[in-house]
Amino acid sequence: MDVAITGTPGTGKSSLARVLRERGYTVLSVRELALETGTAIQGEGDELEVDINSLAAMMFGRTAGLGDPVFIEGHLSHLLPVDMAVVLRSPPSLIGERLKARGYSEEKVRENMEAEAVGVCLVEAVEAGLTVCEIDSSKYGLEELAAVVVELVEWARGGEPLAPYEPGGVDWMEEVMGWY
Ligand SMILES: Nc1ncnc2c1ncn2[C@@H]1O[C@H](COP(=O)(O)OP(=O)(O)O)[C@@H](O)[C@H]1O
Ligand SMILES: [Mg+2]
Repeated sequence: MDVAITGTPGTGKSSLARVLRERGYTVLSVRELALETGTAIQGEGDELEVDINSLAAMMFGRTAGLGDPVFIEGHLSHLLPVDMAVVLRSPPSLIGERLKARGYSEEKVRENMEAEAVGVCLVEAVEAGLTVCEIDSSKYGLEELAAVVVELVEWARGGEPLAPYEPGGVDWMEEVMGWY
């Protein structure tokens, strides 16, 4: 089972990936896969953009024998041929703080806060027809978050419902209405 760990930048994907690796799980990153496959393209400044469609086409068979599950981390990972997507969510205000601290431009901070407010990654993952769950990562410590994710993967494997983590469980409407 290949599992995307996706979500707006700043939701904690890389942090979760680190903990899962520490627990012995195989975790690939979209960034590394793009570099390995030559599907990374030079974006603005020194930023790396991933040609996700080309990478997706090169993913077939690539995770065979690497483990089960194999996690693939990155904010575009749900666009790869995976079986399941774990969408990390966090309040837009927290995304804003974290991305500001990361030195993102005001424009990019705002763009990502808006993307989180409307749930772009979640909607795309659902549209892709994947088994999807969403988790407000700001409610959990990283160890606890990793345990929840592993449990959800096992539930999905057994065909069990992912409630209370099914799409629709996270809602930033109250915070967003405060912007107006
Ligand atoms: N569950 C969490 N609890 C507290 N802090 C977190 C959690 N997840 C991430 N963080 C913090 O948020 C910041 C962004 O996390 P990161 O893993 O880099 O996000 P992403 O890879 O999704 O952009 C980091 O400073 C990290 O320490
Ligand atoms: Mg990251």
